[in-house]
Amino acid sequence: MSGTFTPPRLQVPASVLDLIGGTPLVRLDRFVAANPRVELYAKAEFLNPGGSVKDRAAAAILRDAAQGGRIGRDTVILDATSGNTGIAYAMIAAAYRYRLKLCVPDNVTVERKRMLRAYGAELVLTDPMEGTDGAIREARRLHAAEPGRYFYADQYNNDANWRAHYDTTAPEILEQTDGRVTHFVAGLGTSGTFVGVGRRLREYRSKIHLVSVQPDSPLHGIEGLKHMETAIRPGIYDSDLADEDVSVSTERAQDLTRQLASEEGLLVGVSSGAALAASLDLAARIPEGVIVTVFPDSGTRYLSERFWEPEQGR
Ligand SMILES: Cc1ncc(COP(=O)(O)O)c(C=O)c1O
Repeated sequence: MSGTFTPPRLQVPASVLDLIGGTPLVRLDRFVAANPRVELYAKAEFLNPGGSVKDRAAAAILRDAAQGGRIGRDTVILDATSGNTGIAYAMIAAAYRYRLKLCVPDNVTVERKRMLRAYGAELVLTDPMEGTDGAIREARRLHAAEPGRYFYADQYNNDANWRAHYDTTAPEILEQTDGRVTHFVAGLGTSGTFVGVGRRLREYRSKIHLVSVQPDSPLHGIEGLKHMETAIRPGIYDSDLADEDVSVSTERAQDLTRQLASEEGLLVGVSSGAALAASLDLAARIPEGVIVTVFPDSGTRYLSERFWEPEQGR
């Protein structure tokens, strides 16, 4: 073989922070084959460096706090989360050399504790019987005892959360669809993704159809999503934004999550299955359109859950 090899011009990131965002849209043709005038795309947020959509919010929250002078050299960043946001904070805190303390119930998996400690986070292990509420109470107690020492990140009430999606996720969707997006579907956790993307898309196209997705009961198995009626309502949530708010059962979300893995090669978390369920119901009702939804994280985070083997999971 002869000839010269011209390598593609790849940008060299300065740090892991530059790897956040810019995720691809994956086209899900087979799910909407019944109507060729409907296109369905999922934003592959599991490809962020911390493995989830929460990298965007965590980066924005910490950047905003640093620029506002709320994180000094001796400040300890504090929150109560062992989920995707905790991982995102830990990754970013490592890259910025910030100190991070996370209050987490002692029964979180060994893998999760190792991951957070590998990033250098300090863990305050709380009573498993008190669940995440116990972890939140401990974080609030620590903050109240020494307010000057900590920056309490509070993603549920921090505008930098939804702004991350207004500033990055939504413009990416507009660019990746050449501005053709007509419908947007996303699950509600803190609501940052839905509110931020929804507000930006509505500014661009006032007739955009926005669909928010919730679990259909308070006791559900859709990690990352909130049953708003019974949960503590996030301060950043704007319930007037959605044209439709739909409920999805845990079983249906799990079925579609398994189907995404075995038929599309997309190993994603259950909240992606919930987003897909709502998107498919929408696709079946509209004559034409370009639907974009969000797949927030990877299925590798939940492999010990029994639903992957459906005959045992029920
Ligand atoms: C797996 C998963 N899906 C969905 C969401 C919802 O995202 P948001 O908090 O932006 O509403 C989260 C948030 O933590 C999550 O972890």
